[in-house]
Amino acid sequence: MREVILDVDTGTDDALALLYALRSPDLHVRAVTCVAGNVGLDRVVANTTGLIGALGAVVPVAAGADRPLLTEPRHAAAVHGTDGLAGVVPPGEPARLDGRHAVELLRETILAAKAPVLVGLAPLTNLALLVRTYPEVVEHVAEVRLMAGSVGAGNVTPAAEFNVWADPEAAAVVMSAPWPVRMYGLDVFYEPSPDDAAIAALRAGSSVAGRLAGEVLDGLARTGPSGRAYLGDAGVVADLDADAVTWEPMPLMVDTRSGPTRGMTLADRRDRRHEADERAPWPRVGVATAVDAPALVRRYVDVV
Ligand code: BDR
Ligand code: CA
Repeated sequence: MREVILDVDTGTDDALALLYALRSPDLHVRAVTCVAGNVGLDRVVANTTGLIGALGAVVPVAAGADRPLLTEPRHAAAVHGTDGLAGVVPPGEPARLDGRHAVELLRETILAAKAPVLVGLAPLTNLALLVRTYPEVVEHVAEVRLMAGSVGAGNVTPAAEFNVWADPEAAAVVMSAPWPVRMYGLDVFYEPSPDDAAIAALRAGSSVAGRLAGEVLDGLARTGPSGRAYLGDAGVVADLDADAVTWEPMPLMVDTRSGPTRGMTLADRRDRRHEADERAPWPRVGVATAVDAPALVRRYVDVV
């Protein structure tokens, strides 16, 4: 069973990811950390503890950064609603919030776990603070999988994807740390899209998680940019089991300059002959370039 730690800004599609991770028989969620992003930190914490409580799961949850490293927080209410969950209210009592700061919980969990996968589904502030505060933990992480970036178009700006745009300095720190990074970005993000039958199957099942996922997907179809439901962040997590993504290693830089391309993830996709020379200092990132969307949706519905 793979040990995973999730860093979230719950958020509709973070909710879908959490529901999947907590239901998967092949994943052991060791900790969940919260960061400001889609909504403010307090709301992220309420949504995250609410969902974990609704499933009756026992997993440490901690609050982290309430703003990016250098800039003011910016949210995404237009996509997720002002409550972050498109109006969905998890039933029951919320899970208890751990008293530790997210960075402390991350450090202690990484050192106690067996080669965990660190999954970042939000602006990368918490993970950057971890790298800078406790660089020695980096080597204990098997890999970092991020919903972040794009090697094509952006979503919040023509060039930038939300999680990177919200805190580009943090993204640059995380992408260049000496741990393996995979970037599941906008190039594949919207493709796994449950249709009406899949959503009905989730709603009809006996699990609380399935009913919640169905409601969230209906909400996403209403408020999301494409007018249809999509797995979004949950795709990264479901792929840990489904292995449905094609990854290509690329030299990749985060643009931290101010201006129209701030937050862009620029990949050097030129012929590999250039590799040894001028691109040597560029971090190499595994970029998701294709996804077997039906396989990922099937896996999601089966598990949740
Ligand atoms: C990312 O930003 C948020 O809106 C989603 O939760 C996802 O993590 C997509 O750009
Ligand atoms: Ca997210």
